[in-house]
Amino acid sequence: MDSVWYDGDAVGYLDQRALPREVVRKRARSVDDVVDAIATLAVRGAPAIGIFGAYGVALAAQLHAGDRPAFEAAAQRIRGARPTAVNLAWAVDRVLQSPGAEREEAQRIHEEQRDVDRRIGEAAIELFPAIGNVLTHCNTGPIATGGDGTALGCFVAAHRAGKKLHVFVDETRPLLQGARLTMFELREAGLPCTLIVDSAAAITMQRKDVRAIVVGADRIARNGDTANKIGTYGVAIAAAHHGIPFYIAAPRSTFDFAIESGDAIPIEERNADEVRIAADDPVYNPAFDVTPGRLITGFITEYGVLAPPYADAVPDLEHRPCLA
Ligand code: MRU
Repeated sequence: MDSVWYDGDAVGYLDQRALPREVVRKRARSVDDVVDAIATLAVRGAPAIGIFGAYGVALAAQLHAGDRPAFEAAAQRIRGARPTAVNLAWAVDRVLQSPGAEREEAQRIHEEQRDVDRRIGEAAIELFPAIGNVLTHCNTGPIATGGDGTALGCFVAAHRAGKKLHVFVDETRPLLQGARLTMFELREAGLPCTLIVDSAAAITMQRKDVRAIVVGADRIARNGDTANKIGTYGVAIAAAHHGIPFYIAAPRSTFDFAIESGDAIPIEERNADEVRIAADDPVYNPAFDVTPGRLITGFITEYGVLAPPYADAVPDLEHRPCLA
């Protein structure tokens, strides 16, 4: 099931807000539609919003043919639709650097992601035991990447290689990406899985012999500090307490080589209505948190698994040759 695609005079997408109740496909025909789909999480997941944003810029090029300033302004609006996942800015910039071939470049980004996800999955297989429980947070499957998935793709690759994994899935408050999307994708892939509330992650580690934790990422700094869905930081702390390996699975496009540490990562704060019950409750609703690099056992990338010290491994990744 493709989560985004180019559709002639529009960008097609699977409306993730309707899953798993309904499979709803929509078309973004304008820059407003593209920005709205990203901002409302109809399209979400760092690589998927990068690909969707890239197709959005290709659409803007079509809509503003012959008017470069209007086209560039439209591209900047798409680039700013959400602040934390660096894949969006990265993909928009790539398409902007391909004047006259915007659609081809967007398609190349999409194809590369498929290849990258496959390599990430392969790199992860050896990290898992032959049989055992694992845990994840948020959603990192095909819906979120446009390929096989990152963290979820690691579990699926190990499952296909004959490993018997059972995945505990954090529901992922407040928008329930784990409960709605990850459970759906794991069932589709035939992986045994169990849903837990976010606050059950620590007792699951304590009582269910969790052997590894793998999550995705939205932006990774040069020192390994990693922004991912709110709640990830707490999972990493609990994993360290229990001595459980905690991995981030992410493509190179999620590394922000321009920032030294997680302090510089912009954290999106979303509407209070996503959280509050009573109408007037004051709310703090950060959509992401930053896990310090020292809590991360390794980064599973298309180049293999990066080990600490990340202050060396991440800058080294920047200079690796492109794989595609
Ligand atoms: O707000 P979301 O649902 O877009 O947040 C998504 C995440 O935090 C994912 O873990 C991350 O983007 C990786 S997707 C492969």
